[in-house]
Amino acid sequence: MARLLRFLAVLVVALGLLAWGSFHVVNSTTQAWFEKDIALRAQLAVNGARWALLSRWDPAQADAIRDVLTEIARDERIMGAAACNSDLSLLAATTEYPSQFSCAGLGPQVRQTPDTLAKDWRTSTLDVQLPGGRVHVSAVPIVYVGKAMGFVALVHDMAFIDRREAKVQQLILIAFGVLAVAASLITVLAGRLFWRWWTQEIRKFLKGGAQRREFRPILRDVRELIERIAADRALDEEGGAWTPARLKQTLTQHLHGEKVVILANREPYIHDRAADGTVRILHPASGLVTAMEPVMRACGGVWVAHGSGSADRETADHDGRIRVPPGEESYILRRVWLSPEEEKGYYYGFANEGLWPLCHMAHTRPVFRREDWEHYKIANRRFAETVCSEVDSDDPIVFVQDYHFALAPRFIREHLPRATIISFWHIPWPNSERLGICPWREELLQGMLGSSILGFHTQLYCNNFVDAVDRFLEARIDREQTAVIHQKRRTLVRAYPISIEWPSHWLKDSPQPSDCRGRVLAELKLSPDTLLGVGVDRLDYTKGIEERLWAVERLLERYPEFRGRFTFVQLAAPSRTAIERYRQLDEAVATTAARINERFSMGEYRPIILLRAHHEPPTVYRYYRAADLCYVSSLHDGMNLVAKEFVAARDDERGVLVLSHFAGASKELTEALIVNPYDLDEASSALATALRMSPEEQQERMHAMRTLLAEYNVYRWAGRMLIDAARLRGKDRLTGRLSDHLTGPTESRR
Ligand code: F6P
Repeated sequence: MARLLRFLAVLVVALGLLAWGSFHVVNSTTQAWFEKDIALRAQLAVNGARWALLSRWDPAQADAIRDVLTEIARDERIMGAAACNSDLSLLAATTEYPSQFSCAGLGPQVRQTPDTLAKDWRTSTLDVQLPGGRVHVSAVPIVYVGKAMGFVALVHDMAFIDRREAKVQQLILIAFGVLAVAASLITVLAGRLFWRWWTQEIRKFLKGGAQRREFRPILRDVRELIERIAADRALDEEGGAWTPARLKQTLTQHLHGEKVVILANREPYIHDRAADGTVRILHPASGLVTAMEPVMRACGGVWVAHGSGSADRETADHDGRIRVPPGEESYILRRVWLSPEEEKGYYYGFANEGLWPLCHMAHTRPVFRREDWEHYKIANRRFAETVCSEVDSDDPIVFVQDYHFALAPRFIREHLPRATIISFWHIPWPNSERLGICPWREELLQGMLGSSILGFHTQLYCNNFVDAVDRFLEARIDREQTAVIHQKRRTLVRAYPISIEWPSHWLKDSPQPSDCRGRVLAELKLSPDTLLGVGVDRLDYTKGIEERLWAVERLLERYPEFRGRFTFVQLAAPSRTAIERYRQLDEAVATTAARINERFSMGEYRPIILLRAHHEPPTVYRYYRAADLCYVSSLHDGMNLVAKEFVAARDDERGVLVLSHFAGASKELTEALIVNPYDLDEASSALATALRMSPEEQQERMHAMRTLLAEYNVYRWAGRMLIDAARLRGKDRLTGRLSDHLTGPTESRR
């Protein structure tokens, strides 16, 4: 309704403007016509009386001339007439002739020279506004055998023209008024008719046409889109911003405060014995941990993970349990121990030499060994059993994380058929051709289909997964719901783009950006006017670190103004160093940095500073806050949370994010400078643009990205999955799968 009223208001204003314009055009045109008409009439009237006037053209015959003039002025529109001699003296005038139009006054307009040659005289007209109204004066020469005898002046009353104009104005206004009403009525009527026709057609289509095979995909897409939009809207309208409290409340409200158990290979807190014998707590460089740890702090529960730290055993109890975060202790970390052979086969072998390169298009060949696969199966079973030992009901909520645990959902389901298992795949999912490389692709798919909900970062990965099931398994695919029904079990496949906590708790104790900058520049012995770029990654070939350094090199080649001024600091956390490809990468990055430094060094100046070490989050945040730009150059990345962390760190709304098109984050952080990291000219241009960007533009871009992240934070990400899980449980109960549970022992415990 509001929209319709807005439309009608616009229509009326438009017609009003049109009426106003038309009135002016009509007014000036008719006026010109009337004036032409008057001039013509004056000419005719004088011509008609010409002989009568010429025969009396003598001051002695003034009375006779006045009679002729009175005859001419009989026309009601002529107020008066006067005859003027060639010397511009008055011969005669009618009684009403206005005295201000004297012969001497009009003469110079009629007579070009004091001569009486007819060619020097011409008819002249004049419009004058008198107190009684507008008048038009025509002065017509009286010519006899090539000589001008004088002229006759006629004063026309213009009031009738003004009356006519007023009438025309009125008529135009009425016509446009009628038009406005008619157009509004026709628009409303046509809109209603069209809407009715459209809804009827849609209904018909949904009833009959939709059954036709060729329409089904369209219908499915429309339904899916509507459902997703409606669910998102409901989610955002229900309870305001997503916070830890709201996530906890969602858990209580939708899932009766169920205990959450998460399974992830990487633990959020690693106890490590340092060289000096002291035990320190490390926060691993892992996107998974960055995202999941705040969720666990909000929800409580148990995190089951591989105990990989050198002091992990001694800091946990005899079951491998320890309360974390240190000092806060809001959830339990349950550590699972692996022998070096198991870790080698399961983690380094199958997960990171097989699945990791299989899922990432980064030109490293996947290696699949049967012994690694066997270890992967054993480890998945061991972790699944640990999860089952941590639950306190027969339909718990279990979050299974990432490619380390493709088989675990199925193993958990074997023990806990009623569990709600939400699996999230943190890396890309390949297309079917690529997945086909894996000799155990069917087992992987079957394992994942033990999940109730299977989440990926993007719809493309969901589609790839469903296509793979279609290709490799005997399963039914419900494309309408994007679900797979395998061995009578339904798994929903959904896109949930992951995010970070907002605001980041690391910011609480972080110094102001100017202090961070001062400290970083002092640490690195850089001059205060240094332009600082930063990169933060695990040393992984998917992150495009070599390409990043080449882009810096290209920048210095193409833009000499930055030589000696721009320094790029790469914080590179050693990762998976037991794998040869990672060792090669480590070497290649170091060699590339050294070569570029050699090429562009000047005195103390080095363009690249490579810090190959683990850095704790406060240090990482200090670099984020100190930098003029952050370059994330992933060659293929499911999401990349470094990009989001950099934005979160910049509460001063300064700094520029240069982001690879191949990182999932580029679909959300569209105000970053998006580049193809393989295209070194493009990437170096973007670096130059970032370094030259005005503070106003930086602020505008940063503000937009921060607004998005504040809303789409990790609490919303987890909340959406929990709400979907609750809906699924509701449906399952209705369809009877959990019907006995309604009166069973677990229900009575709540
Ligand atoms: O998504 C983040 C991620 O890339 C995970 O897939 C991976 O588990 C983690 O970061 C880091 O790897 P790792 O656990 O092997 O150190």
